[in-house]
Amino acid sequence: MKNKFIYFSAALAVMLFVSCKNEVQNSDAESAQKEYIGKEIGTDHDAEIDKLISQMTLEEKIGMLHGNSMFANAGVKRLGIPELKMADGPLGVREEISRDNWAPAGWTNDFATYYPAGGALAATWNAEMAHTFGTSLGEELRARDKDMLLSPAINMVRTPLGGRTYEYMSEDPFLNKKIAVPLIVGLQEKDVMACVKHFAANNQETNRDYVDVQIDERTLREIYLPAFEASVKEAKAYSIMGAYNKFRGEYLCENDYMLNKILRDEWGFKGIVVSDWAAVHSTAKSLKNGLDIEMGTPKPFNEFFLADKLIAAVKSGEVSEKEIDLHVKRILRVLFQVKAMGGGERTKGSIATEAHYQDAYKIAAEAVVLLKNENNALPLKLDGVKSIAVIGNNATKKNALGGFGAGVKTKREITPLEGLKNRLPSSIKINYAEGYLERYDEKNKGNLGNITSNGPVTIDQLDPAKVQEAVEAAKNSDVAIIFAGSNRDYETEASDRRDLHLPFGQEELIQKVLAVNPKTIVVFVAGAPFEIENISKKSQAVVWSWFNGSEGGNALADVLLGKVNPSGKLPWTMPKAIMDSPAHATNSFPGGKTVNYAEGILIGYRWFDTKNIAPLYPFGYGLSYTTFGFENAKADKTDYAQNETISVSVEVKNTGKEDGKEVVQLYASKSGSKITRAAQELKGFSKVLVKAGSSQTVTIKVPVKELAYYDVTAKKWTVEPGKYTLKVGNSSRDIKKEIPVTIK
Ligand code: BGC
Repeated sequence: MKNKFIYFSAALAVMLFVSCKNEVQNSDAESAQKEYIGKEIGTDHDAEIDKLISQMTLEEKIGMLHGNSMFANAGVKRLGIPELKMADGPLGVREEISRDNWAPAGWTNDFATYYPAGGALAATWNAEMAHTFGTSLGEELRARDKDMLLSPAINMVRTPLGGRTYEYMSEDPFLNKKIAVPLIVGLQEKDVMACVKHFAANNQETNRDYVDVQIDERTLREIYLPAFEASVKEAKAYSIMGAYNKFRGEYLCENDYMLNKILRDEWGFKGIVVSDWAAVHSTAKSLKNGLDIEMGTPKPFNEFFLADKLIAAVKSGEVSEKEIDLHVKRILRVLFQVKAMGGGERTKGSIATEAHYQDAYKIAAEAVVLLKNENNALPLKLDGVKSIAVIGNNATKKNALGGFGAGVKTKREITPLEGLKNRLPSSIKINYAEGYLERYDEKNKGNLGNITSNGPVTIDQLDPAKVQEAVEAAKNSDVAIIFAGSNRDYETEASDRRDLHLPFGQEELIQKVLAVNPKTIVVFVAGAPFEIENISKKSQAVVWSWFNGSEGGNALADVLLGKVNPSGKLPWTMPKAIMDSPAHATNSFPGGKTVNYAEGILIGYRWFDTKNIAPLYPFGYGLSYTTFGFENAKADKTDYAQNETISVSVEVKNTGKEDGKEVVQLYASKSGSKITRAAQELKGFSKVLVKAGSSQTVTIKVPVKELAYYDVTAKKWTVEPGKYTLKVGNSSRDIKKEIPVTIK
């Protein structure tokens, strides 16, 4: 059976079905949107596991609770227990690292597919793409004979400056969980464990080793935990990675509230908690408070907190052997679950195959966001075009490696320039000019990867010869395309960016090119927002691409040339200026020893919409080469009981000349609430392909429970009765229809 997991409608999640009005009349059953539900960790092998544990020495048991090499714990050979083999990461399987230090192992068979980064995947607004991402990557992991992928990375994007914004998915908890769940389910279908990271409240790199994050309870539950909760309850993730920082005074790898009370007691998590690398600070406390495996950076592995020190703690009676057995049993259960033990045919996998590159292509093509397109400048019309200027360091920059654990060693990374060369007829001359140089202030170069300070300082003076070359190329070509943005040295784990300015003098360069060739298209390759208002105003067409995987350049060229109609939507708000963003407007980033999330629930567009601040490009925004009309948006009833599901339908009409995909978004507002609320919150969405001239009816189902807020006093999710407004639109700021409903 291809699919081990059963897809069925989950009561808690948004279900939708699409029926094709003008063409085939699909039955509800056929067209029901799959819900992705993972498979529970089995207990069938418990008797065998108990027997194994009874045969193990204390040293053997404890060997399983800590790293015995950089990416594996110890197995127990004589009993047939293998090591639990792990690999990064979110953009593909990382190259093999040496067993006892961070240096690459130097293998020649560890090339992998580089998949689009988390932000790109979220920009597809397509659960099916996330599922493909998971299965494809799961197969690669198996081909490398690993058991656990240290991914997905699903921390909330609290500030656009966050160094890992590109790795993470969104500023919205609903979109975050709707992408995370199918990804995890897909991955685990391939007999590997997802390790969902970094649990939780790990939203900045600055001071990440010690910063104490303070979040009020309601905000924690409504914003920072939902994607983790869905990963556990719906996707049944087999492991979770504890974060580096502290939360309410306790390190997250020894945080009783988060690991025992919430994760296990409330959510029923049955898998294992793995520490981030060198994130552990205690022995007995970590173990008791929920950690199962300590991983870390090289030092004698027996010096880890859960190594010799733990043996001593058991011997002194501080920790009972029964406690040790509990953790060992959890680990053995997941090893059996992914068939690393117990026989059973395990997925063999395959890596860097054409099929996987094509998976990466499909995702990349749906991730590209068209931000501006005046006078239908795009797609490029090639009639009469003899030459195209391709300008910018990002036209040739490779981004697969870099960013530490998120790096991928790949044989295929199609750059934007290569993509254009692959797709343009050879009769068109490409005039390439680098334009700007990627340069850093050497004195501040140390800040790269230095986790106690903010990101690298760039050199923003342009090289006059490079500018001249770029201007000449633009002048002498029929069309110019600038590839600007950032790269994975500038946006990286271990440091946050200092500000939102475009580095390396790009703004000045773009203005100069625009001045000589008004037909310039500006393409950003980046993983996080930048301040691009000026450029955006002056350019007729602006496209946003990402660290978009092995086939990123081909996908981008196909969008620019019209083979692919763009359908990506921003998974976060593009602010006009950093001070408009909530963490900055409230002066609560990055904090010092402590950081207090002063904006509370008003993260991302919740802040912009509630405070009436105009973003440059709103959450959920993205254009298409065709136009869509939304008609007859309505709910199936006017009044709903608490246990009912609201069904909202809308006819999406493709009023243009191209087939295209549109994302119907459903936001909810509660006016006159007795509690503080965001102006609106995303509660459902559906991506639908509509052929030119035809229409599709999209139905989005919202269980009334999705409208709940977290009642801190009652310690439970509560739906406030009364009037709500459901807003149907194609971005958070383009609402086509408001539908009032009443909840009893
Ligand atoms: C990162 C993790 C990563 C781990 C192992 C840490 O620095 O925070 O995301 O999985 O290293 O490379």
